[in-house]
Amino acid sequence: MAIKHELFFLLAVVFAAILNGATAGDPDITSDFLLPQNVTSVNGTFFTYTGLRNIFLTAIPPTFKVTKASLKEFPALDGQSVSYAVLQFPAGSVNPPHTHPRSAELLFLLVGCLEVGFVDTKNILYSQTLQTGDMFVFPKGLVHFQYNRYSSNSAVAISAFGSANAGTVSIPGTVFNTSISDDILAKSFKTDVATIQKIKSGLAA
Ligand SMILES: *[C@@H]1O[C@H](CO)[C@@H](O)[C@H](O)[C@H]1NC(C)=O
Ligand SMILES: *[C@@H]1O[C@H](CO)[C@@H](O)[C@H](O)[C@H]1NC(C)=O
Ligand SMILES: *[C@@H]1O[C@H](CO)[C@@H](O)[C@H](O)[C@H]1NC(C)=O
Repeated sequence: MAIKHELFFLLAVVFAAILNGATAGDPDITSDFLLPQNVTSVNGTFFTYTGLRNIFLTAIPPTFKVTKASLKEFPALDGQSVSYAVLQFPAGSVNPPHTHPRSAELLFLLVGCLEVGFVDTKNILYSQTLQTGDMFVFPKGLVHFQYNRYSSNSAVAISAFGSANAGTVSIPGTVFNTSISDDILAKSFKTDVATIQKIKSGLAA
């Protein structure tokens, strides 16, 4: 009887944790806004981020570039569960498969065309070619990518996140550009160590 009771309690705890994990965004705050520890009073300047002022005036970078306005760059976002990133795609560039562990991503294509897609937990790919003005939502935590297939036109998008610090896990970087040993990767990808080393050397450059 006692064992049954403990088991029930354990299941209840696990279930509550899963439920919490499934619904949680950034933690709710109990004040209007949060100030950095060394700051006691602010004015409108604190709630203003000017770091992207020139981003649409300067030439598009030669390789794919993400410029974030998240908690780190814009401290007033702390506790507000929102952030932005600007994505710039020169012709032919890709934002390789990655995930955001703490948020969905709502992409709004401002300039050009983009091929986008995500893969769900059943390994089904949902992809689309977006035109200027289109939006696409990448569900929270799922692997996704964006690709500017065009050889002459650049593309620019803005992405909104439901977290001040959505986080990015790059699949190529996480798998092949950290210290996971070659033999583990060779076994995992059902290939040999030389193939793994070849992939690794391309990413390290
Ligand atoms: C508070 O600390 C941050 C980081 O340590 C610093 O950049 C900022 O200038 C400080 N602000 C004040 C008002 O001291
Ligand atoms: C607002 O605060 C900033 C410092 O964070 C200060 O430089 C600025 O002068 C203040 N503006 C006004 C209108 O008080
Ligand atoms: C791989 O790691 C190195 C060293 O940390 C870094 O300079 C490089 O940009 C990384 N490459 C990729 C594709 O993540």
